[in-house]
Amino acid sequence: MKIQRTVSCGQVTQEHVDKKIQLSGWVNKRRDHGGLIFIDLRDRTGLMQLVFNPDIAAEAHKAAHALRSEYVISVCGIVYPRPTETVNEKLPTGKLELYVTELEILNRAKMLPFSLEDAENVDEELRLKYRYLDLRRKRMYSNMALRSDVIFLMRYFLQQHGFHEIETPTLTKDTPEGAREFLVPSRLHHGFFYALPQSPQLYKQLLMAGGIERYFQVARCFRDEDLRADRQPEFTQLDLELSFVTAQDIQDLMEALLVYIMKAVKGIEIPRPFTRIVYEQAFEVYGSDKPDLRFELKIQDLSTLFKDTSLKFLQTVLQQDGRIGALHVAGKTFTRSELDSWVIRAQNLGAKGLLWVRFDEDGKPESPVAKFLPDDFLFRVANVIPSCTKNDTLFIIAGPYKEAWTSLGRLRLELGEALNLIPHDVYNFSWIVDFPLFEYDADAKCWNATHHPFTSPTEEWENQEPGEMHAKAYDVILNGVELGGGSIRIHDQAVQKKMFELLGLSTEETQEKFGFLLEAQELGFPPHGGIALGLDRLIMLLTNSNSIRDVIAFPKTQRGFDLMMSAPASVDAAKLREYGLVVKKK
Ligand code: AMO
Repeated sequence: MKIQRTVSCGQVTQEHVDKKIQLSGWVNKRRDHGGLIFIDLRDRTGLMQLVFNPDIAAEAHKAAHALRSEYVISVCGIVYPRPTETVNEKLPTGKLELYVTELEILNRAKMLPFSLEDAENVDEELRLKYRYLDLRRKRMYSNMALRSDVIFLMRYFLQQHGFHEIETPTLTKDTPEGAREFLVPSRLHHGFFYALPQSPQLYKQLLMAGGIERYFQVARCFRDEDLRADRQPEFTQLDLELSFVTAQDIQDLMEALLVYIMKAVKGIEIPRPFTRIVYEQAFEVYGSDKPDLRFELKIQDLSTLFKDTSLKFLQTVLQQDGRIGALHVAGKTFTRSELDSWVIRAQNLGAKGLLWVRFDEDGKPESPVAKFLPDDFLFRVANVIPSCTKNDTLFIIAGPYKEAWTSLGRLRLELGEALNLIPHDVYNFSWIVDFPLFEYDADAKCWNATHHPFTSPTEEWENQEPGEMHAKAYDVILNGVELGGGSIRIHDQAVQKKMFELLGLSTEETQEKFGFLLEAQELGFPPHGGIALGLDRLIMLLTNSNSIRDVIAFPKTQRGFDLMMSAPASVDAAKLREYGLVVKKK
């Protein structure tokens, strides 16, 4: 057989009936039925049933006895309709089969370390070690294909909107974006290190100084931070920057892009404009800066209700300017043991404690602290939460505002999931805007930039204290996941210097770290802004995956290992010398 394939397995159709074709792929399954051997041949497009009949092709039939799962083969033969009783309606090619006349074994395979069919139940580390096997699975292949399609659509859309794709360096100096960076030692300059970029932030701003006006990049970013389901040490952003724009312009463009992609890959019309919530409001109502708006269950402030309480711990919280928040669950009567398990779950989510109040059929409150609650407690609660009625339950957390509300926000998500309040076929996009410019680090006793130090403050900033200042920054959220973030940048040198000063940088440090930026700001820097979308997160949500690891071809484990290549790895002493490095063993 000279050629290797004339058609793909999943693309064999009625048109091929009675014709000779050649297929290539992997043996998915082999079944021996009396004299006949059946093989499901698999390639990336699907499965096709092969039949080896000794009366039609004795030699091929004999050779087919040797075939095992995952052998790579090429076959020639004639396509026939299957007998009615063997038609498989679930398979696109299920009405057809190929009577093989020639078989070539292109490669053999030992028994795989795990069965591809059972891979969802296999330890993820094994899947990662043999990632190339995992990628043979339909689900993984579709994830990769969708990712490729989305990137293609993004490039097309942005090209149509006047953007140029420009690559920026991978060996660079770090930009201060909060995470720790990966360092690369320089062989030529001992004792000097490059940093891998956390994002192309400063380069893209300098491209605006360079008059590019509309930049984008499918950019690889590196962050040495604690990993989670939606965090990898290297990940991909769709990174944009534009000159002469407002925050609204950037958000409009991003909405148009996301709506375009949702339509193209999911066939779904996403309504515009997306919901916009200012940061403080989002936190007050949902206890999060990335609220999942697919369901309600808003946080209710019960502080006033408890202002005359005789409950000591609540009194203390209120005296210390803390607050008392509640989640009101209607339409579900919890058992006592369910309520106890919610207390433990809340503690696991970071709450110091959880107080529950369940109203019985007569509206009487039941609770571990029932004797401290007035008989007309339901009536009083209903003044704050009008929908609260008999048989409902309140989950109450009290404490310092940030702490209590963060726990309530997490509890809200768990309750939403447990009570099936979250519709899973919905894509809910929103913007969170007007973030605080700074966050206070109580341990280090200093201000940190909430977004990054190049983010422009809102106009009022000159008359405000750092804790009151707000940023022209925005995040785009999808179903409770932070999909992307961006801001209008500082282009005025005086503002930039002031920003560094508020962050506690000395003039020397500022000059040493950011001299090039400050200089550019004096040489005709246009006003500009941008955004970066986490591409992996978008694909994770579009493919209903639980982790971004499932949409990255070769991801790292939670502990940052590449199990297939065994990275990171030690290097020998000679190499260390070349780089001028000495390793201190732990
Ligand atoms: P930010 O740090 O908010 O902004 O990152 C933008 C988006 O990148 C994704 N992301 C990640 N995805 C996977 N693994 C990670 N470790 C990870 N960290 C971030 C998120 C996030 O919303 N330069 C700025 C953008 C700008 O201002 O234009 C930046 O990187 O989806």
